[in-house]
Amino acid sequence: MAIQEGKKAAGRKAAELIQNGQIVGLGTGSTAACFIDNLILRCKQGLQIEAVASSSASAEQARRGQLKILDINEVSHIDITVDGADEIDAKKRMVKGGGGAHVREKILASYSREVVIIVDETKVVDAIGHAKVPVEILRYGSLATGKKLEELGYRGHWRKNKDNSLFITENGNCLFDIAFSSPLLSPEKDHEKIIHIPGVIDTGFFFGYAGRVIIGYSDGSTKTLQ
Ligand code: 5RP
Repeated sequence: MAIQEGKKAAGRKAAELIQNGQIVGLGTGSTAACFIDNLILRCKQGLQIEAVASSSASAEQARRGQLKILDINEVSHIDITVDGADEIDAKKRMVKGGGGAHVREKILASYSREVVIIVDETKVVDAIGHAKVPVEILRYGSLATGKKLEELGYRGHWRKNKDNSLFITENGNCLFDIAFSSPLLSPEKDHEKIIHIPGVIDTGFFFGYAGRVIIGYSDGSTKTLQ
């Protein structure tokens, strides 16, 4: 409950940043959903924006609130994207993809003039790597790709649905969630090793994307890191 208050506070604060006429990237997850709720409220009060969504869940939530959703290929840029994170460190290095949308989220982030990250206080860590790091993997040859990951020393599990079936992303791929045994000193090196394995689409590591970071606290207050 306390964590939820932090998410709501961060989502509310981020919605205040959005300006008339902007193309807004919508992240995915429970914190991003708090932002979308507040964005909808602001639009009901007269704010005019268009949005690009990183998942069908975020697109549906936005459409229910009468926001106009554009396909990413219809826009020349995104002004501002607001998204959550599973972990973020002092250098704004992040792990994302708890919701399985990190590939689309990274595409939106790379196309955005600014990425605002919204997190509750529990997501701020000294070193990333406590959270599982998802790797999106092409279904063709996925077991071979998974073996290569394991040969490099990366242990983890294929993400499953509640009914134990394989989780398939909106891009039609599967996810291997790496469980690191200790926090990472040089996550960039791990990303570099993994990203070059044929069949790997992308990792959940995000480096150099985060602009302002809004941390929400259980008492409803927020802190913004510039
Ligand atoms: C989805 C993500 C989310 O932003 C991340 O998992 C955080 O989710 P939540 O706000 O629900 O804790 O990367 O792919």
